[in-house]
Amino acid sequence: MEPMNGNDLLSRRRQALAPAYELFYDEPIHIVRGEGVWLFDADGRRYLDCYNNVPSVGHCHPRVVEAIATQARLLNTHTRYLHEKVIELGERLGAKFSEKLSACWFVCTGTEANDLATQIARTVTGHYGMVVSEGSYHGNSDLVLKLSTSSYPAKDRPDWLAAATAPDTYRGPYRAGSEPGGEEALAERYADSVAEGVAGLADRGYQPAAMLVDSSWDDNGLFVPPKGYLARAASIVRAAGGLFIADEVQAGYCRLGDTWWGHERYDVVPDIVVLGKPMGGGHPVAAVVSTPEIAAAFGEKMDYFNTFGGNPVAAAAALAVLDVIDEEGLLENAGEVGRHLERGFAELANEHPIIGDVRGSGLFWGIDLVSDRESRQPLDRAAAKHIVSAICREGVLMGLMGSHGNVLKMRPPLLFGRDNADHALEVIDACLKRHAS
Ligand SMILES: Cc1ncc(COP(=O)(O)O)c(C=O)c1O
Repeated sequence: MEPMNGNDLLSRRRQALAPAYELFYDEPIHIVRGEGVWLFDADGRRYLDCYNNVPSVGHCHPRVVEAIATQARLLNTHTRYLHEKVIELGERLGAKFSEKLSACWFVCTGTEANDLATQIARTVTGHYGMVVSEGSYHGNSDLVLKLSTSSYPAKDRPDWLAAATAPDTYRGPYRAGSEPGGEEALAERYADSVAEGVAGLADRGYQPAAMLVDSSWDDNGLFVPPKGYLARAASIVRAAGGLFIADEVQAGYCRLGDTWWGHERYDVVPDIVVLGKPMGGGHPVAAVVSTPEIAAAFGEKMDYFNTFGGNPVAAAAALAVLDVIDEEGLLENAGEVGRHLERGFAELANEHPIIGDVRGSGLFWGIDLVSDRESRQPLDRAAAKHIVSAICREGVLMGLMGSHGNVLKMRPPLLFGRDNADHALEVIDACLKRHAS
């Protein structure tokens, strides 16, 4: 397969990079520049970015670029000196949460943040067990990969891990509309699985240090849990002496529209929150936020230092992202464009029997493609890949997610507008029509 700009980048990449790295799309694209919601390839072709959440306020936002450059020209050290920007970032992040959550640790990646959050929970509770969702992804270190049940066979799970059934009300064991008692009953059924997980840990000699949950169930293919599920799950784990950790790497930073954080939609205040991807608008910066009490209890037993985490340049980038979101009204934009997308997806689903379910809110949507609506049989992986590649050839970048690789993923930068939404919907419509014919 020839790379699009004619250079032999693909074979050079194969030589230079480990084979574990994946490339998107049947014909990989060579992106050289980004601006707002647009990406440009080496031939100058423009693509509408409906996939990338890391450039949260748009690719190469001038405020973020300027903040990074200005700070890099002045100073870049670490968190062992007093620095206004690092402190201001902690203060301003704390102000975005419930007043209970105000103590920050800065790291570089979501993996590190989840690793640290687990370490904090284990140190503070004195327990070792962990509860996660089936099909979860939280990162790639040795510890955090074990918490990522989507990433390795169930038979290799450590004894200290319990995996609760994820709240999949479309294809899971308890489905929307099929449970007498409605959402409440669904929430209870799925929360029962958390209780079973905790009981299983006890049988194996462990108490839970925490339950770690991605508030969007992104790797599962994006789930919207039944009302009350997360609050019930958290109270079950807390009753057993564990903490509740919300992994907001995907769901945070206004992604789901109308609230800054995913967990806020579900009426639960976590003990620890994990932030990552969108935080620096493209610059690597991530964080753990907890209560002053938990932070103090951890601090009594452990020091923490992260060489690059929360350095002044990273802090400048993260502060610029907070400024842009607030000044450009991106939270409101995510909510409003999300409602527009919801209407558009409903029309698409009416037209295309291949769409089994559409889930999400704000600027995070999953279009669950099926080979049969009745049985909810997922479309096979290869066919889903062809569809996402066809959408790419039409100049719209999307991804795939879910354990069957059949859920089209839309998760654009937060400044994605109604016009961008209409453009994407038209292209998806055209590609699904072509697939059906
Ligand atoms: C929910 C969630 N948590 C954590 C991570 C890990 O973040 P990172 O790749 O920055 O280590 C990811 C990455 O995809 C994620 O989706």
